[in-house]
Amino acid sequence: MKTYIVANWKMYLNAEESFKTAEHIKANLTKRDDVELIVCPNALAFNGVRDILKDAVSYGAQNVAWTPLGAYTGAISALLFYQDGARYALVGHSERRYIFGEDNEAVRKKMNACIDTGLIPILCIGETHDDKEEEKQEYRIKKQLMKALEGLDLQGIVPLVAYEPVWAISNFGIGQPCDPEYANNMHAVIKKELTQYSDADIPVLYGGSVDNNNIASYVSRENINGVLVGSASTNGHVLLDLLDKGAQC
Ligand code: PGA
Repeated sequence: MKTYIVANWKMYLNAEESFKTAEHIKANLTKRDDVELIVCPNALAFNGVRDILKDAVSYGAQNVAWTPLGAYTGAISALLFYQDGARYALVGHSERRYIFGEDNEAVRKKMNACIDTGLIPILCIGETHDDKEEEKQEYRIKKQLMKALEGLDLQGIVPLVAYEPVWAISNFGIGQPCDPEYANNMHAVIKKELTQYSDADIPVLYGGSVDNNNIASYVSRENINGVLVGSASTNGHVLLDLLDKGAQC
């Protein structure tokens, strides 16, 4: 299976900074078949970044509205992102769940919207610090998977799943590094659980304070098929180094 590197630029870069980073990537990127780079700029920068990088990378939406078109002030749907060149969409990111109050029902609607549109959802799951203290990490991820996937007709789409322990995410979480062995074991649990919902070999990515110094310790593990990177991916040099190091594993 190829390695996936998802660059989630969150709201770190404005449009001009996003274009500069994209120009840097364009000038220095070596395209590889064994690594897929998925760039997720903010919605205002999305088309500009796509116009710079064209088909050198894949594109993902950071968030989608579940309804396709109509009177939904402020919303941008899975359909609109798809029409503008997105192939993927993050769904259920912990910052959406815990800062913007998205519950499992909203996550499910967004999963449906992506599948109906033809976007590949990157379903984000992970336990909070409190869950972990109470040893409820497996309970939490199993519940999140069930709510997002049970009875869902994937219509031939193979989603990606990103395991992101909330406590390991920089800035929002407490940025406590996740031991790669702990992550690998959680990925094994997730992969086993996923067999209930699909016959496909669903890639499971790790996210939470990944950078170019620690990426190899994650992607070299047997159950970790790539990474979802936030803050470190906003620096063009670091992102290209992440690709090189990810490709070597
Ligand atoms: P981080 O974010 O790499 O900045 O910890 C990861 C994520 O939230 O996707």
